Amino acid sequence: MKTISILNHNDLTEAFALEQLCHTLPWSKTTFFSNQGDRYLNLKLTIDNKIIGFCICQLVADEANLFNIAIHPEFRQKGLAKELLNKLIEELMSINSNKPIASLWLEVRKSNDAAIRLYHSLGFNQITIRKNYYPTVDGKQEDAIIMAYTLTL
Ligand SMILES: CC(C)(COP(=O)(O)OP(=O)(O)OC[C@H]1O[C@@H](n2cnc3c(N)ncnc32)[C@H](O)[C@@H]1OP(=O)(O)O)[C@@H](O)C(=O)NCCC(=O)NCCS
Repeated sequence: MKTISILNHNDLTEAFALEQLCHTLPWSKTTFFSNQGDRYLNLKLTIDNKIIGFCICQLVADEANLFNIAIHPEFRQKGLAKELLNKLIEELMSINSNKPIASLWLEVRKSNDAAIRLYHSLGFNQITIRKNYYPTVDGKQEDAIIMAYTLTL
């Protein structure tokens, strides 16, 4: 059975193993475990109780920032990341506050075609490019593309 729900503290060890499996340059355990808490809306996608994907999203004032998303390599290109982000967008839009979240921002490596296609397919727009923002595995730098999604009702 497939479910999407809040990523809890108890999920972090399993989710961090997925982080290490999914990214060429994964976050450290300290970074992964510290990107949780009150200011975050982090979701997990499970299939038969196993974490197959997660997303890490920080809320600051009326903006949300998607810091991380990953889907298990064996479950990619089946629409799961899109489903997870659609759920995140739905949750962000349903936050009941006097200052609703207006936009969802993200940064992505210029070479990350899969992620860029995912974000375009959801309706994110490219805002700008940050030159030489990311380190690469071979010790060089790579540009970041900054994208945003407007959360209007
Ligand atoms: C990026 C990532 C999350 C996409 O997950 P996914 O579950 O495979 O994506 P989906 O199946 O939901 O695909 C969504 C859209 O992107 C496209 N897409 C996804 N991966 C693609 C690929 N490798 N090549 C071409 N298109 C791709 C799909 O065709 C789909 O487009 P459509 O809606 O027009 O059909 C996954 O590849 C991943 O975990 N990568 C490693 C971690 C990473 O780079 N995270 C993002 C930066 S933090």
